[in-house]
Amino acid sequence: MTIPCDILVFGGTGDLALHKLLPALYHLYRDGRLHNAVRIIALARRTLPRNDYLKLAERHCRAQVTRQDFEQEVWQRFAARLDYFSMDASQSADFMRLARYLGEPFGLTRVHYLATAPDLFVPIVRHLRLAGLADSEARIVLEKPIGHSLASATEINAAIGAVFRETQVFRIDHYLGKETVQNLMALRFANALLEPVWRNNQIDHVQISVCETLGVENRGPYYDRAGAARDMLQNHLLQLLCLIAMEPPAQFEAEAIRDEKVKVLRALKPITDLDVQDKTVRGQYAAGSIGGQEVPAYYFEKGVDHDSDSETFVAVQAHVDTWRWAGVPFYLRTGKRMARRSSQIVIQFKPVPHALFSGGQVNQLSIQLQPEERVSLRMMTKAPGKGMRLEPVELDLNLAQVFGQTRRWDAYERLLLDVLEGDSTLFMRRDEVEAAWAWIDPILQGWQTHFQAPRPYPAGTDGPEHSNQLLAREGRQWQP
Ligand code: BG6
Repeated sequence: MTIPCDILVFGGTGDLALHKLLPALYHLYRDGRLHNAVRIIALARRTLPRNDYLKLAERHCRAQVTRQDFEQEVWQRFAARLDYFSMDASQSADFMRLARYLGEPFGLTRVHYLATAPDLFVPIVRHLRLAGLADSEARIVLEKPIGHSLASATEINAAIGAVFRETQVFRIDHYLGKETVQNLMALRFANALLEPVWRNNQIDHVQISVCETLGVENRGPYYDRAGAARDMLQNHLLQLLCLIAMEPPAQFEAEAIRDEKVKVLRALKPITDLDVQDKTVRGQYAAGSIGGQEVPAYYFEKGVDHDSDSETFVAVQAHVDTWRWAGVPFYLRTGKRMARRSSQIVIQFKPVPHALFSGGQVNQLSIQLQPEERVSLRMMTKAPGKGMRLEPVELDLNLAQVFGQTRRWDAYERLLLDVLEGDSTLFMRRDEVEAAWAWIDPILQGWQTHFQAPRPYPAGTDGPEHSNQLLAREGRQWQP
């Protein structure tokens, strides 16, 4: 059981709070991981009687939690710990009102979860301090993206740093809370046979793909300002790249791990100016069909500008300029409304140095994060029968089968628990966030300077043709 605390969820009526945070908190509560004295206070502008909020929360939790996990009696007890407080996060006076409403902490830790747009982060932390809600025990959780550029991220980090110590700050990238993402570290650092081949002598290239079939759902206004580079590349994809490329940390401990990750981010070769045309591809989905269902073009989505030039797809060829990775391209891509939902990392090894048999002979390690959690190694084998005909076969490890069909923790459940336990291993440190922006900024600027408009791709496909060319011109291709 964790510390007695008040969990304040700013943006309490938003998608993230309703779809992810409350269901995660419900699961933690049901499993007895929250302190009995916990209070969860959702905060938002809408004037809502508490009962109406509870109904809204119940409806969303029922939709997110499986039927066997949703127990009415547990819900009643959970709901008794859940409250709603209407306030305007830009108004200092509302924080004073909130402080009075919460009362004296008497040993409670205050956890402020900022599930809001990043432009509210600075006013919120300042008001928290003025209202006396940011004592030395308090914790603050920030959702990505932290800012929309290096300058804005630095400003946010500085404002937060003026109120909270770094150990009180938890910058969430929910990909780090996924079981399979954590498994990347286990795979790399607990299997002696991988380390000797985990380098440029043996690895030809790495692919990191996060493909979604979803569009922008109810988040049009946010997404249209962000685009795929800020929404996914700056955080989730770069974090995956860090875990693949980092050196083994000396200990499995927050600072040691984050030190190694930030070194990778700083070693990323900048993509500047005209390079953006060769090394990056932007795309935007046009109308198309997914699973037999027609979907509209991006610029017809709710809350999106009709002449929007935000990208819903991005592919990049990155290089990590270190001894280990010299010359190994890392191809990253992410997109919405693609043919299928799949997040995977593919490590493509170099061919054998001397080919005894005809045909290509390469090993490939694929780590699938979604929709299934599996790790597979492609080996070349002899096909049965006369002659030496080779065929690739997969050594396939389906993690759900291996570990049984027990309920998989949602990333937010794991991360919320870490916040309550004060463990920042799976959170981004200030310098990591800034190093990631320092690499992304020139790409965003290059797109503007050279008027690189997104290339259209029909919804339900693998993105714009140019993304295939990014690999094809070097004799490579995206793995399906
Ligand atoms: C979020 C992005 O961080 O991650 C969304 O803002 C995206 O646009 C989501 O859909 C993807 O997460 P997951 O866990 O479904 O792969």
